[in-house]
Amino acid sequence: MLDNELIFLSEPGGAVRGKLRVPGDKSISHRAIMLGSIAEGASEINGFLEGEDALATLQAFRAMGVQIEGPDNGRVNIQGVGLGGLKAPHAPLYLGNSGTSMRLLAGLLAAQPFNLTLSGDASLSKRPMNRVVEPLRQMGAVIESAANGRPPLHIKGGQKLRGLDYRLPMASAQVKSCLLLAGLYAEGTTCVTEPAPTRDHSERMLRGLGWPLEVQGRQIRLQGGHRLRGSAIDIAADISSAAFFMVAASIADGSDVLLEQVGINPTRDGVIRILRLMGADITLENPRELCGEPVADIRVRSAKLHGIDIPEELVPLAIDEFPVLFIAAACASGCTVLRGAAELRVKESDRIQVMADGLKTLGVSATPTEDGMHIEGGTIGGGEVWAHGDHRIAMSFAVAALRASRPIRIHDCANVATSFPGFVDLAQQAGMRIEVEGNL
Ligand code: S3P
Repeated sequence: MLDNELIFLSEPGGAVRGKLRVPGDKSISHRAIMLGSIAEGASEINGFLEGEDALATLQAFRAMGVQIEGPDNGRVNIQGVGLGGLKAPHAPLYLGNSGTSMRLLAGLLAAQPFNLTLSGDASLSKRPMNRVVEPLRQMGAVIESAANGRPPLHIKGGQKLRGLDYRLPMASAQVKSCLLLAGLYAEGTTCVTEPAPTRDHSERMLRGLGWPLEVQGRQIRLQGGHRLRGSAIDIAADISSAAFFMVAASIADGSDVLLEQVGINPTRDGVIRILRLMGADITLENPRELCGEPVADIRVRSAKLHGIDIPEELVPLAIDEFPVLFIAAACASGCTVLRGAAELRVKESDRIQVMADGLKTLGVSATPTEDGMHIEGGTIGGGEVWAHGDHRIAMSFAVAALRASRPIRIHDCANVATSFPGFVDLAQQAGMRIEVEGNL
């Protein structure tokens, strides 16, 4: 075992039961820090995700002179400095594993008066940034990257940005949000057209903080020259974290969980729709709104799942949930086919290859394709699998153990803390037989 390796040992069997509150939404937590920092006046955030990714965004704004108190039990207080109030950081902004931090900050920081550098860990340093750098350059930004558009990004200060009319080549909320954030600082109109709907948290929060924005079909349009007002921002539990327990409860006999106050934004609810198509027993209780975002308590009971052809239009709406949906497919009767999901290859790991390798080790018939996977449901064995530092892969294989015949030992799990601090405790409390070996 490497000195700093964290291993999950998941014993076979068990069921999940009870009321569970998973941590706050990662995407919304990033945006709350970013927009609260460049708003005028104070913002009080509740339900903030105290995971490493969102904390990297928080530290970046502290390094740019924003006074931020907390997090303390999910509460963060920000004294917003206004659009023009950020200060030059003394060192590169290190964003760890967080692609969302890097892509959104590239846009928000492209028109500041100072030079700065955005850097990340080994995984983030391999991820493609040209998808944001190229359109930002068209807006007038001056940004240098390492070879092939990889991080670090060096942004030259003092540039004047112009609005851009841009058709996204891929369905990506990070690219969309990056350009909208750059558009706040640009002269004229920025218009982004998406090939398919993606998470719209930036649009909702911009509006909530008072920035006018027009949405027509797949086109989002805003103009520079307005202001954001500090506000109270309450953040729902993350549907992407709830997804692990949705699949766990579906595949493990005798399960019945209530996942409290989970965000069910229709641009994020693909996991619910896909699981229901597979025969899952999911009900939404007490639907309501929280700061402009729809939320509900999600009740999931075990069910017999069957394989499906996953409708391609649901792919962007469940883009982070495929690792655990592959586990659902491995437990379903018949074949599940995913297509149109090439983006999975450029996430925190190549999620198609890494999941296919792990599933094969566990005796599941999984065939990766360029843009998806074929999985033949059946029995799950046991053995050693590697998460490749990808939080969602680690948690997905931990869920698989509920239906495994032998223990599953999962290597390289430390990054679970990027999105789901407390996962192991909550999983044990719910009834999963998971232990941790090693520590950081
Ligand atoms: C995110 C957008 C998605 C998602 C990521 C968070 C966001 O990425 O995978 O975890 O907060 O905007 P892409 O825009 O690359 O699809």
